[in-house]
Order: sequence, then C-alpha cells, then structure tokens
Amino acid sequence: MARRILLVTGNRGKLEEAREVLREYGVEVEQAQAWKLEVQSESLEEIALRAARVAYAQLRRPLAVEDAGLFINALNGFPGPYSSYAYKTIGIPGVLRLLEGAADRGACFKAAVAYVAPLVERVFTGEVCGSIAREPRGSQGFGFDPIFVPEGYSSTFAELGPGVKNRISHRARAFRRLGEWLSRRDPL
Ligand code: IMP
Repeated sequence: MARRILLVTGNRGKLEEAREVLREYGVEVEQAQAWKLEVQSESLEEIALRAARVAYAQLRRPLAVEDAGLFINALNGFPGPYSSYAYKTIGIPGVLRLLEGAADRGACFKAAVAYVAPLVERVFTGEVCGSIAREPRGSQGFGFDPIFVPEGYSSTFAELGPGVKNRISHRARAFRRLGEWLSRRDPL
C-alpha cells in the first residue's frame, strides 16, 4: 500500500476532505502543486485520468487527481464537468436563476479520482444525489455546498459541515474506494 500519496489540487476544501477519508485507511495525503492539465471532456473520469497522467510524468510519485461536478436534472446535467467554470462565471446566483420555475430541483454531485503510480492507473467514482435549495444556506465547505441538500436531509452541505459531508459526499465515496483498494495492495 502507498502510505503517502500526492493529491494534485489547488483546492483546500478538496484536500481536507481527501485527507480525512484516506486517514481511515492509513494513507497520508500531501498536496502537490503540479501544473494541472484541464482537458475538455464530458467525462469526469477522462478529465481526471488525463490530468493524473500528466502530473505523474512531472512528479514521478504515486498521486491522485480528482475531478468533480454538479449535475442538475432540470438543466440536462449542466454544469456537470464545467462546474468550476460555471461557479466562477454565473456562480450560485446564476444557477438559482436558471432553476426559477423548475418543477424538478434534483441534482447529483459526482466525483472521479484517478490514481497513477508505477505500472498502475485506476479511476474510482462516487456520487451523492439530492436537490438544489431555493437560496444559499450555511457557511461551511466550498463551491456549491450552500445550495446542495443531500437526499435524506433538509440542510445544505454548507450547514451540515464536514462531519456529515465526509460520510456521504461524492468525493468521500470516491476516495473511500481508493482507500479500500490501496489497503488491499502490497506496499510500494
Ligand atoms: P473541479 O473538480 O476542480 O473541476 O471543480 C468542480 C467544481 O464543482 C468546483 O469548483 C465546485 O464549484 C463544484 N464542486 C465540486 N465538488 C464540490 C463539493 O463537494 N461541494 C461544492 N461544490 C463542489
């Protein structure tokens, strides 16, 4: 098992969530600031894997790259793989405006974690579904957390905080699958 992996990300929120989950499997996560390739694709798996390959070519150490997005039913899955661009441009107010009058406020967060190490390439996915709140609520987390209400709850991720989010989130589920897989492998 690789006891220490690099996570290539500039996002502190992602780093903290990955750390918390992988700690349960005895895997330490170190942040790496490699240049991140942003390929355009409709597949989170492909985006994460291609970015991980490029990062591995630079860093030559076992590493993971995660790519995630918010898929909104009424918008046919938009912003999906374009979520970070949508967040930076139209933001939460823009998404709420697009959903004005929508009968279906259902949405899912999806994540793909690509792991690349010597002679290994694997992609793990995770998903959590729920709905888009009518207005932003809560101050924890990042990105679209203030408007995402996971199924079975009435609070947003930003209100629920890291304890609940790290049990049920798309990212936690994908990293848990990576953690389980790493813990079944021989030490590198
Ligand atoms: P990327 O994975 O860095 O391309 O970013 C995807 C974008 O989706 C982020 O910038 C956030 O706006 C949004 N996103 C992904 N995961 C989460 C999450 O757990 N909470 C809130 N927003 C998220």
